[in-house]
Amino acid sequence: MTDRATELRAQGRDIISLSVGEPDFATPSHVVAAANAALDAGQTRYTPVGGTAALKRAAALHFARDLGIQVGIEQVTASAGGKQSIFHALLATLDPGDEVLIPAPWWVSYPEAVRFAGAEVVPLPTTAAGGFRISAAQLAAAITPRTRWLLLNSPGNPTGAVYFAALLRDLGEVLRAHPQVMVLSDDIYAPLRYTLGRHATLAVECPDLAGRILTVSGVSKSHAMTGFRIGVACGPEWLIRAMERLQSHSSGNPCSISQAAAVAAFEGPQDFLADWREAFRVRRDAVVAAINAVPGLSSPVPEGAFYCLVDAAPLMARFGDDEALALHLLDHGVAVVAASAFGGSAGFRISFAAEAAVLDEALQRITKALQ
Ligand SMILES: Cc1ncc(COP(=O)(O)O)c(C=O)c1O
Repeated sequence: MTDRATELRAQGRDIISLSVGEPDFATPSHVVAAANAALDAGQTRYTPVGGTAALKRAAALHFARDLGIQVGIEQVTASAGGKQSIFHALLATLDPGDEVLIPAPWWVSYPEAVRFAGAEVVPLPTTAAGGFRISAAQLAAAITPRTRWLLLNSPGNPTGAVYFAALLRDLGEVLRAHPQVMVLSDDIYAPLRYTLGRHATLAVECPDLAGRILTVSGVSKSHAMTGFRIGVACGPEWLIRAMERLQSHSSGNPCSISQAAAVAAFEGPQDFLADWREAFRVRRDAVVAAINAVPGLSSPVPEGAFYCLVDAAPLMARFGDDEALALHLLDHGVAVVAASAFGGSAGFRISFAAEAAVLDEALQRITKALQ
């Protein structure tokens, strides 16, 4: 949809894109300065495949400070984005016939990576009424001897759902009985969370399971660094080594300049994040209120990230499916992503990573398009 919106704009149409998955804020200036300094210092050569020792130390600091996960640098690796860490972890461990449990709606790349690795996607459907979270009973019923991974994403894309500590402990209790199941916890949106208290993550809630948990994070979302392409992961050493072996034959080390920038991101001031969170929270509340005022649309209040998953089920009789609805909205000048792209149905995702005035105009267009 982002590409289609760009195309239409090139034809002179006025299109507002609410389909992007990146913050609209500028990358913090100390991060940009660190990238410039790395270039000036000639840091333009290969680095160790899984990142420099400085980046691994900085990532370990991030895992401890922001997620509460204590790891040594031998349990940390860096790649060209959270996406690549996830891809390599799955590719390094999955065999044909293996099953991977993915709560739906899901982030679009999870099922593709699983299928690329030759394994089968087993969706775990969630609902708005259930907070878009799986239950322990649902997990227990879905695990088979072929289950190799459970993918968890909190805060989640596209739902903004956040898993709370007690639920993670319940999920952990189920997992204890199934030692063949690994867990990939994608916490990349953790710094962009609107709930109070500390961030809950499985490796902290169930430390006895840490030997089979890979936690993925990065700087793309938290520091508006999507173009730098740096992701980090921590987990058991055997898995980290396997991911690095794979990476050594695919892309090699992540960009040396970006690594220096990511060190500054993790080690530098984090206080700007409070302002970003507040700005996102204000926009979120405005979007949810406007959506819930449109007949046929409804949205729960997302607890993290910068997305709303809007339910449009009452409008399906009129439009047929959510792709048709998304195209109709595009005709009226707003690009959103149909929920079916995320393994959902009858709705669409709005990214509220746009300025308040732009969001306001987009919401007016959506309201008009559906009148
Ligand atoms: C849930 C989730 N995980 C991981 C990523 C990957 O981020 P990146 O590869 O840009 O670091 C994204 C990006 O959209 C995401 O939404």
